[in-house]
Amino acid sequence: MRFDAVAKTYRRGGGSEVRALTGVSFDIQPGEFFGLLGPNGAGKTTLISILAGLSRASSGRVSVLGHDVVDDYAAARKCLGIVPQELVFDPFFSVRETLKIQSGYFGVRNNEAWIDELLHELGLADKANANMRQLSGGMKRRVLVAQALVHRPPVIVLDEPTAGVDVELRQTLWAFIARLNKQGHTVLLTTHYLEEAEALCGRIAMLKQGEVVALARTANLLAGTPHQMLRFKTDDALPPELASQARVTGRIVQLAAHGAGEVERLLARLREARVRVEDLEIGRADLEDVFLDIMRGGAPASVPLEAAA
Ligand SMILES: Nc1ncnc2c1ncn2[C@@H]1O[C@H](COP(=O)(O)OP(=O)(O)OP(=O)(O)O)[C@@H](O)[C@H]1O
Ligand SMILES: [Mg+2]
Repeated sequence: MRFDAVAKTYRRGGGSEVRALTGVSFDIQPGEFFGLLGPNGAGKTTLISILAGLSRASSGRVSVLGHDVVDDYAAARKCLGIVPQELVFDPFFSVRETLKIQSGYFGVRNNEAWIDELLHELGLADKANANMRQLSGGMKRRVLVAQALVHRPPVIVLDEPTAGVDVELRQTLWAFIARLNKQGHTVLLTTHYLEEAEALCGRIAMLKQGEVVALARTANLLAGTPHQMLRFKTDDALPPELASQARVTGRIVQLAAHGAGEVERLLARLREARVRVEDLEIGRADLEDVFLDIMRGGAPASVPLEAAA
């Protein structure tokens, strides 16, 4: 899969423009498990719509297994199984009918055995004859995943497949997708669950305002960051210079520290500011720390832009 200087500008009414992508280039090798991360509005879904042929790039080219997504649309589309971010479905069909219709769309006949396997793998076997409108949100998302896979595409694209999906199905889904990846399917994943991306993706690209700001093996992204994270709970306000660099979730505060000396300095600063610290832990930085660092514009030097896989 190749993205070559892909730019996209949306024109809105009143002559205003949104530059959703500003020249994005990277390759994904066959068999990779690749993560595309970025905050809301970074351009992830726009890039996937261009890949899927649902939207035209303003400039640049995209190809899938050598097929240009514009000039060679049908061949490119056939290589792709796309799980869209939005839940789109026809409420009048049952789950099984939906999957049969999708098979027909790709010209796949006698697909019953594979459809049964998909229903089973995705925990939908007892819903096969239910109408789409009778399903819960998480179940509809499972059907979208099954729908993307009916024609056994070599490239699987998942745009936030686990949004609104319960813990158990998330695990089942990842076990299934990981198995398909082992069998040779290429996977492109976007997710806001960074621990999923950390566990699954061999390489990761991070988009910020339509631009690639990091592209590296997951292990290298993790290795290139401050090694310790200080985590604690407090009800007190942090001094401003610490507040600006902290990750705060309710009462839980996390601070990055480069080495033991900085851990000591941070603790001393907290004591000095009379911040009462409870449940202190010192742990390793994770992908969420790296992500926040990069999105805040810090630490780019430690994040190499690696061109090749
Ligand atoms: N059809 C459209 N018309 C106009 N602007 C659009 C359209 N689709 C997306 N945008 C804009 O393009 C930018 C990128 O949106 P996109 O949906 O690609 O982001 P995203 O990275 O997928 O975000 P999220 O994590 O929220 O799904 C945003 O500023 C968005 O408002
Ligand atoms: Mg999106």
